[in-house]
Amino acid sequence: MTTKVMSTPTNDAIAPERRPRRLRRTESIRTLVRETVVRPEGLIYPLFVVPNTRPKVEIGSMPGVWQLRVREAVDEARRAYDLGIRALLLFGLPEYKDGIGSASWDPTGPVQSAIEAIKRAVPQMTVMADVCLCEYTDHGHCGVIVDRNGTKDVDNDQTLPLLAKQAVSFAAAGADFVAPSDMMDGRVAAIREALDGASLTEVGIMAYSAKYASGFYGPFREAAESAPQFGDRRSYQMDPANVREALREMELDVEEGADMIMVKPALSYLDVIRAARDNFELPVAAYNVSGEYSMVKAAAERGWIDGPRVMNEILTSIKRAGADLIITYHALEFASKG
Ligand code: PBG
Repeated sequence: MTTKVMSTPTNDAIAPERRPRRLRRTESIRTLVRETVVRPEGLIYPLFVVPNTRPKVEIGSMPGVWQLRVREAVDEARRAYDLGIRALLLFGLPEYKDGIGSASWDPTGPVQSAIEAIKRAVPQMTVMADVCLCEYTDHGHCGVIVDRNGTKDVDNDQTLPLLAKQAVSFAAAGADFVAPSDMMDGRVAAIREALDGASLTEVGIMAYSAKYASGFYGPFREAAESAPQFGDRRSYQMDPANVREALREMELDVEEGADMIMVKPALSYLDVIRAARDNFELPVAAYNVSGEYSMVKAAAERGWIDGPRVMNEILTSIKRAGADLIITYHALEFASKG
């Protein structure tokens, strides 16, 4: 049997300028020409704050992420700051839930208390607070529920003043930014107006502008105890298939006074992040959400992937797609490396 041997091209066959591998030869050269670098200062670290009457608990589906009491949230903030992280995003689990989420504007609530305590202990830390009703309502929806001819619906306009009230409460406690994640129409304008009306003009709005109805939020709903008790969020969160609609949402938020816009989730929406970066001048944040984090942790735990390596690759890809800021549960781990 004869085997045909391919002739090896000689060096002469490759033109001198056709050797991109020169730039990959050593680690120092690779570092020198690296186009995208993720910095801890560009990450936003989410924390879940519970009332002091509850224990500190690790989220089953999010290894390394905990429900923290105020004191522990302060410790975590200090640790994060020492590692170079400059911003936190706070979520709260209230003492009680009702139909309108009234616990969310309680000045002694877990988020308000954590904002005050963190700003006191780590004044340089930028503290952001998520604004939404779902953690605070007994039905788990992001707005007020009304009955329309026997069908339950989330009422947009009745929800706006409640979101504004919550935002003002967080801002009054000392939050640097409020981050509405509810996806009601007109909420950025309503919140901006309420903040300005309360003389909180320096407090910014990071708007969850293109927030998709996503299966990737599953673990978060365990962490925040915010799963809807009936139905789903598809009548207010976006259809995963749409990118033009995302641009329209972003445009409205910019017009209404957002200081930063956000795309969420990140990994399945890298094209939307790119579109956001190419079309708007404001900082673009991307939310590397709970399900994206949990998939990495679960596979790494089984030895199926190299967790830290995949984490780096994921954060780099989100940055490369155009995100200026990345909200990620990996923040502390990323900042701790090396
Ligand atoms: C609240 C909110 C959610 C997330 C951030 N804010 C959950 C949801 O919309 O159901 C998800 C974050 C994550 O999955 O990490 N509306």
